[in-house]
Formats: sequence, C-alpha cells, structure tokens
Amino acid sequence: MSQATNQSWGGRFSEPTDAFVARFTASVNFDQRLAPQDIQGSIAHATMLARVGVLTDDERDAIINGLNEIQGEIERGEFNWSVPLEDVHMNIEARLTEKIGITGKKLHTGRSRNDQVATDIRLFMRDEIDVIEVELKRLREGMIELADREAETIMPGFTHLQTAQPVTFGHHILAWQEMLARDHERLLDCRKRGNVMPLGAAALAGTTYPIDRHVTAELLGFDRPTENSLDAVSDRDFAIEFTSFASILLMHLSRMSEELVLWTSAQFNFIDLPDRFCTGSSIMPQKKNPDVPELVRGKTGRVYGHLISLLTLMKSQPLAYNKDNQEDKEPLFDAVDTVRDCLKAFADMVPAIEPKKASMYEAARRGFSTATDLADYLVRKGVAFRDAHEIVGQSVAYGLKSEKDLSEMSLDELKQFSDTIEQDVFEVLTLEGSVAARNHIGGTAPNQVRAAAQRAREALSALKAGA
Ligand code: ARG
Repeated sequence: MSQATNQSWGGRFSEPTDAFVARFTASVNFDQRLAPQDIQGSIAHATMLARVGVLTDDERDAIINGLNEIQGEIERGEFNWSVPLEDVHMNIEARLTEKIGITGKKLHTGRSRNDQVATDIRLFMRDEIDVIEVELKRLREGMIELADREAETIMPGFTHLQTAQPVTFGHHILAWQEMLARDHERLLDCRKRGNVMPLGAAALAGTTYPIDRHVTAELLGFDRPTENSLDAVSDRDFAIEFTSFASILLMHLSRMSEELVLWTSAQFNFIDLPDRFCTGSSIMPQKKNPDVPELVRGKTGRVYGHLISLLTLMKSQPLAYNKDNQEDKEPLFDAVDTVRDCLKAFADMVPAIEPKKASMYEAARRGFSTATDLADYLVRKGVAFRDAHEIVGQSVAYGLKSEKDLSEMSLDELKQFSDTIEQDVFEVLTLEGSVAARNHIGGTAPNQVRAAAQRAREALSALKAGA
C-alpha cells in the first residue's frame, strides 16, 4: 500500500513518498526520546509568541493545555507514534492539531524543525549532564572517603607495571580522583558553552515575525540566544564536546577498571570486590569474575566510536542544516546512557572496595621498593648520586641471589657495599619510613594524603555550592 503524502509538507508534491524512503528518512523510532524537551520548547515558543502578539492568550492556553495532555499520554504509553509522520516534532504537532484543531497548526509560526531540533537536543543534553553530574560527584566523594580511610595502607607503586616505590593506597585512589576532578570541569564547561538558545533561527535565516528571543531563552533557562541563525541550526559542537568529555572520562574509568581487574586476580591479590559486583563461571566453580570493571573497560570503545561518528558527521558539512544531522542523536543518546551507567556502577562499587592490606604490604616488601630510599640515604651521607645508584644496584643483585629484601639484610651484609651505611639505615629501609619521607604537597606520606583528601572534599563542596 502506498504511503500518504506527509501533510506537514506535502503541498508541492505530486506523488506520495516511497514507503521505504519514508521509513529510511524517519527518525521517530529514536528521537521520540526528545518528547519532553520538544514539548518544553514548544510551550516556551507559544508563550513568547503570545507575549509579542503573534498568538492570542486563548490560543496560547489551548496549545499549552494540549501539549501538557500529550505529555501525559506519552508518559502513560498511550501515545501512538507514527512513522509516516517522520519525527518526534511532527508527531506531537499532528496530535496537537487533532486535539485542539486549527490553533494547533499555529504553533509552528516563526519556527522550523531545524531550530526546534537544535533546541531539543541542547535541552536534552543539559538535563542529562545534570543527572550525570550527580553520579560523578557521588563517585568522587566515595573515592575521597576511601582514600582518607586508607591513608596509611601501604602498597607497591608501579612504573612499567614493575614495583617501583612504596605508596599509600589512599594516594593511589586520590590519583583516580584527580582524573575525575578534571573530567568534572570538562563536563561543566561543556554544559556552559552548550546552554544557548537556537529558537528564532527558524530554517536558517531567522524569521519575519516580531519574536523576542530573549524571552524564549529565559523561559527555557538558557544563558542567551545564539548569535547567528545559520550557525544555530547547524552547530553540533556541544554534542561533540559531550562525547569528548565522555571519551576522556571512560578512558579514565577504563584505566581504573584495568587496575581493579589486576588487583582482584590471585597473582596480585590486592583487593576484594563484594560478590554483588561479580559473577561466576558456568564451568569453573572456583571463579569470581570482576565483570563490572571489565564491562566498563569494554564500553569505553563504543563511546570513542560515538565521538568519531559525530566528528565525521560534521566534517565538511556546508552551512546550514543538513539532513545528515538527524544522525547526531543515536551516538549522543548511547554516549549519555553509557556514561551514566558506568558512573553509577563505579559510584556503587568504589566505596565497597576491600583492600587486602597484608597482601599489599607483602608485595611492596618484595620488589626492592625502598632501593631509591637507600640511594637517597647514601647521598645524605655525602656519596655522589651516581655512586650511590651503583652501590644500591649491587645490594639489590645480592638480595636477588640471597632472596632477601634490603630491609631484611643485616648491617654487615649491607656494609659489604658501602662503609657509609650505619645502623640508622633501617629507618629509611622500612616501607613506613619510605612513604612518610615523601612529605610534601602531592606526596604519598599519610598526613599528606589526609590533607589532600580534605582539600578535595572542600573543592567538591565548593563546586556544589556554586552549581
Ligand atoms: N528529524 C530531523 C532531525 O533530527 C528534524 C529536522 C528536520 N528538518 C528538515 N528540514 N527536514 O534533524
């Protein structure tokens, strides 16, 4: 059966749209997610049109009441979405006209779907950013508290994934928190730059009606109207900025995930994750798999994909609106959903991390992690650093052969390598001495970690007060 010509724009057409083309060009199956924002935008537009005298107050009220009823129908799942009506915008407008008659057809005065959809997505992004920000704050808080609790817990720090120097577990967790603090700034920056109002740009050139774009901007909580109508209908930078934020965030979460996966392995044995964040194996009864961090690590790839999709979507696009832009929604929606879920998973999981302190401590003792401390000790006694490096290298070689850590050697054993070594060396060779000695801002000493946690807490609540 042939498709009816779309009534919203069918005037100049002499044959109906091909049935496949109608399906191919329709976006309603995914953009119906923008219905709340579409209705919110239409209510503001109608309110503004009445304020400038383009609609009567009665017409405005009929439109607003109709739109509110439609919102209810959608929420209750009673709304009948129609593919021939193409997209969320025309579905809602057609239903409005069905409900309130000719007045419904006046809503689109001084507007185009081009500025309408640009507005809808900006409103959507702003709403989603606010939800995402709640989860991000919750995760940061969880990390700060975990770090504070574990300010004295000693673990090996790594470079090249080889034991390097002892650090505190709290210090390591605060390193994660720093990554998220930067992501948080990027998110708020993206929200701010995206919070501008396209309505009034109409199709591309603006509109002949005496609209007041400042009124619409204020009604919708935007900071200001967009400056240029051509740019307003074509700009999708905000979606690219969001997926950039999302990609960097997921890159960070994937790094944390990787460490969690390593740490829960029998080989590292640094932490336990509660059973509720793990699953078993259908064949190997002993298995407890860290699925949540593994999945977050895996989901990072799809978010990078969405960033590349959007960048490529916009590459070389001439001004102004092009139908290509209909392809902006699915990547953005999926990026939003993925980020929100991954943050929620992490915010739930991080406070529940159970460090296996004895095992971390043992691991820190095993890899000659205080070798640099011994070198620094020799330098303080007047040995040149290069010579100290050589002396410690020989001590490590002896330790490898005799299977002894530096702190396990006797004074006589150590003295084989340098006469300068005295009884006081054992203060620096202990793990506690090693971390406590890194006692400056940004260092791993327990008191520094507690102070850093306190500063992070204050920075986070200052952000909350400002938001
Ligand atoms: N569904 C369209 C989109 O998502 C809405 C704008 C359509 N505008 C147009 N002139 N066909 O981009």
